[in-house]
Amino acid sequence: MSDSIDTVLEKLQDTGHSFEDDLKKVTTANELEETRIKYLGRKGQISQYFRQLGSLSPNDRPKLGDALNKLKTEIHSKLENAKRSLDSNQNGSKEEYLDLTLPGAKPSFGYRNPLLQVMDEIKDIFRGMGFRIETGPLVENEYYNFTALNVPEDHPSKDLQDTFYLEHGLLLRTHTSPVQIRTMEKQKPPIRIIAPGRCFRKDTPDATHSPEFHQVEGLVVDTHTSFKHLKGTLFAFAQKLFGPETKVRFRPSFFPFTEPSAEMDIYFDEKLGWLEILGSGMVDPNVLSGVGIDPKKYSGFAFGMGVERIAMLKYRIDDIRHFYDNDLRFLAQF
Ligand code: DAH
Repeated sequence: MSDSIDTVLEKLQDTGHSFEDDLKKVTTANELEETRIKYLGRKGQISQYFRQLGSLSPNDRPKLGDALNKLKTEIHSKLENAKRSLDSNQNGSKEEYLDLTLPGAKPSFGYRNPLLQVMDEIKDIFRGMGFRIETGPLVENEYYNFTALNVPEDHPSKDLQDTFYLEHGLLLRTHTSPVQIRTMEKQKPPIRIIAPGRCFRKDTPDATHSPEFHQVEGLVVDTHTSFKHLKGTLFAFAQKLFGPETKVRFRPSFFPFTEPSAEMDIYFDEKLGWLEILGSGMVDPNVLSGVGIDPKKYSGFAFGMGVERIAMLKYRIDDIRHFYDNDLRFLAQF
């Protein structure tokens, strides 16, 4: 009578073990070849198991078949490895046997900066609401960064102390709002875009200031666009980013390029209370006519938010400098 499948499988396991034992004793190429023949040769042990397959029930056959194929592959690759280490170690001395079958050290993956993660989330939310993504240059001129946005000549934000001025009337953009102008110049309404990107201001770095930071700008221009649309869009955005229970409020504010203007706060918790997350408003008619869009026919709303600030609130990060330090202990947390 032939053995039950369980017994055969047990025996096969023993064969595997005895192969391991034999392999450990191998010190020369000849011994290695002998071991190979003993297990994988035509009359070797593994072949003999294969011969038993025919006498098994159709149910048991795949069980042994699978186990056999696995062991055969394993033996084969271990023999190959051993051969390689013998080759590279001509004298084949046992002490220097290098076990190439040991698993290697796993390389660790990089982390995506939480700032970029939040940036992606913001982009996805607005894309989902039908906004397109626009970009503009980091090096701007006064016209796009200030004048076309209705910023008066003597406005404090134009101060040498706040703006990085370059040669030839150029500067590093201090906000993403110039992309509004560039978009309206080349595109007829209806317009529905966001413009994410880097901005620069001459700030001394501290827990809440960084000379380099990121904003996401938004602009909608169409016939009949009203403050209702602004509120509805930004409320939907806040609930998608901070959760469906999020409460928002709008407070009157002032920006040269919008009239009326409002800042949106969201309610965090008892301790933090209401915190501002973005500025917004109805595009000032002066700005529209400046780019050749008739303010009697079209209206629009715009908004701008600091991505660092939003990421800090969302993940309760207490220092803006963490985003730029590239400290793995920080990055690994997100
Ligand atoms: N550009 C403003 C800033 O940097 C943010 C802003 C406010 C953008 C209101 C807008 C807006 O588009 O409507 O502080």
